Amino acid sequence: MTQDELKQAVAQAAADYVAANAPAGSIIGVGTGSTANCFIDALAPLKDRYRGAVASSEATRRRLEGHGFPVLDLNDVDAIPIYVDGADEINAALHMIKGGGGALTREKIVAAVATTFVCIADGSKLVATLGRFPLPVEVIPMARAHVARELAKLGGTPVLREGFVTDNGNLILDVKGLSIADPVAFETRVNQITGVVTNGLFAVRPADVLLLGTAAGVRTLTVG
Ligand code: A5P
Repeated sequence: MTQDELKQAVAQAAADYVAANAPAGSIIGVGTGSTANCFIDALAPLKDRYRGAVASSEATRRRLEGHGFPVLDLNDVDAIPIYVDGADEINAALHMIKGGGGALTREKIVAAVATTFVCIADGSKLVATLGRFPLPVEVIPMARAHVARELAKLGGTPVLREGFVTDNGNLILDVKGLSIADPVAFETRVNQITGVVTNGLFAVRPADVLLLGTAAGVRTLTVG
């Protein structure tokens, strides 16, 4: 199977998971990226069953609305039973690196509200140790140089994502050369640097379920 076919398979599995587990009339959290786009397309036939969706980016909002999905402001929402999103890397503890598409902050906010985080990924995303994929860090523009110096002290090589501004009006530093032995500690440490909005480690709040696309089919992984 091609990588695109694996993404479509996990996206359909996620739509089936939502249909089985999210109550009618509830609100679905929707992530960002090429795999999340496949999920939006797979969820579209079910849109009348749900009150609407919360989007983790402007691109996702546009795609949902293109399918006729009502998109709600998170501040008007009390509960999100299920959030579905992709990942750039994920480990066996379901800690992730996210933000390759630059939507990490809004993704982390929606994930914080959601009861269940379902990660959808093709098999290439599963790794033993996080860090080969450069860690995205969203930064307030005036703090860019300061944050870059602090990230270098932590052992990484920060590179400004050229020509990119987040949906929140900020910059992204992609930190190369990391091997992250303790993702919870590293996520917390990076977020303590003044000027960082958040970083793309999702370990303090990991995924609850991983739907992993493999040549043998979609595997469902959970922790514990
Ligand atoms: C968006 O900011 C990211 O967190 C994406 O969810 C992640 O990069 C996965 O994207 P793909 O599904 O396109 O690989």
